[in-house]
Amino acid sequence: MNTSHSSVKPPAEAVVGGTAPDLGLPAQACLFAGALDPCTIVIFGASGDLTARKLVPALYNLFLRRAFPQPCSVVGVARTRWSRQEFQSRMHAALATQQNYDSQKWHEFAHALDYFAIDYDSLASFQALRTFLQEVDSRLGTGGNRLFYLAMPPSLYQSISQHLGQVGLGQEQREGQGWARIVVEKPFGRDLASAVALNATLQQHFQEHQIFRIDHYMAKETVQNILICRFANAIFEPLWSRNFIDRVGIIAAEKIGVEHRAGFYEQTGVLRDMFQNHMMQLLALIAMEPPARFAAEQVRDEKVKSFRSLKPLDGPDLAADLVLGQYGPGVIDGAGVPGYRQEPGVSPTSLTPTFAVMRLFIDNWRWRGVPFYLASGKRLPQKLTQLIIHFKEVPHSLFATIGLESITPNRLILGIQPEEKITLTFQTKNPGATVCLREVTMDFHYYHNYQGPMMDAYEKSLIDVMQGDQMLFWRQDGIEVSWSFFSPVIEACESCAIREELMHPYPAGTWGPAKAHAMMQLLINR
Ligand code: BG6
Repeated sequence: MNTSHSSVKPPAEAVVGGTAPDLGLPAQACLFAGALDPCTIVIFGASGDLTARKLVPALYNLFLRRAFPQPCSVVGVARTRWSRQEFQSRMHAALATQQNYDSQKWHEFAHALDYFAIDYDSLASFQALRTFLQEVDSRLGTGGNRLFYLAMPPSLYQSISQHLGQVGLGQEQREGQGWARIVVEKPFGRDLASAVALNATLQQHFQEHQIFRIDHYMAKETVQNILICRFANAIFEPLWSRNFIDRVGIIAAEKIGVEHRAGFYEQTGVLRDMFQNHMMQLLALIAMEPPARFAAEQVRDEKVKSFRSLKPLDGPDLAADLVLGQYGPGVIDGAGVPGYRQEPGVSPTSLTPTFAVMRLFIDNWRWRGVPFYLASGKRLPQKLTQLIIHFKEVPHSLFATIGLESITPNRLILGIQPEEKITLTFQTKNPGATVCLREVTMDFHYYHNYQGPMMDAYEKSLIDVMQGDQMLFWRQDGIEVSWSFFSPVIEACESCAIREELMHPYPAGTWGPAKAHAMMQLLINR
């Protein structure tokens, strides 16, 4: 494999730690392109799970890689009356178990951590936050650049963005402020109407270029690679259509159950939690046309275009194209686990789906008639995220005379988790005097020829926000088209008289309900 790439030039400012990748590429050019503006990162929901589990670890990793703004302040904001020291010690507890924890580096990083206890309902409290942030600016020289991260229940998004706007924190380049960007976590609304309403509030105080609707799937290294695989290689694109592709499978299977998130999940279910956002992004990367340029607006234009071509699913055939399931008690990794209805906080009569498989069609010139099978579920036998392109069979078997009527078609597998890989299956002759075919694979694993670190999705997303690059974030029109497709489906599932009959139980540790097996076979198998 040729790994030379002489045109890549590292930016002079960028210095990144870690092991150099053995790709003939400078580490810093791969991991991080460009210096970051000094800024303050304000995390709303700082006492919550996302902050300790994902955001602060991502910032710490960026700090270790020296891909952290200088100067930078990370201000945790929450209702909890913590002191700065208390916030720091909570974050320390979250980081101390990480493999790359280093006590001296932690102490340097901890200087950046500050805390502000807020009353979300009080405008005066937001005015006090503004004064606090101005003091941070003058103390550290963060230049009035601010990133507001909403890492909290969606019910608070509207009031927080409104309050930020009312105290002037949404303004840019005025009264000592630099840039102001707001990051909104999914779910972005729970249907089309609420997504439109949330957006209307956000846009009263922030312009579109300031709003970053995050979807961490888009920032996964291997997900980003799908576009590169399709559009930086000449060999795939000519085959990438209904002429050569029989069907497409996309699976995001999880071994974990609902964990401690019953309050959220009972209101959400798998269609809102995984399909309307993550699964749609994966679908778009396979289905979209080549963008005019590799730039945020052009890439997002093409994604939205492919969503617009989705054939509505809420017609009379809904039950044939969609199977919902809910996990019951079962066995995972040899140990018994409770069913969804037995999980703490879940109603014993809950009808919330934890599994879905669906068959979609994209009505355009490229994809007309090609089924896309999408599946996602909790408490399945393994963590597995894959996109599988099933090519058509050869048009005619030359080997029919020796008993080979049908030949297993080729598959291209784009592995996202747990194996980060690209695999192409094809037929070869088995050595010997007779003609026997066997399927072999050509594999590319991300770690082949690479010893450097991989950047986590939250690290990549935070860097992109700090650089103002929206390519890996949802644009509002995409959200709305995706909801236009899913809202009627969810409504049909939730409101029909036979709702209970539509919900198929499956034992934890299996590949979903029996009714889903035919679609699952087509999705995964040859
Ligand atoms: C989140 C969902 O967005 O993605 C979770 O809310 C799910 O329910 C998670 O477990 C899966 O993400 P990943 O990166 O582990 O595949």
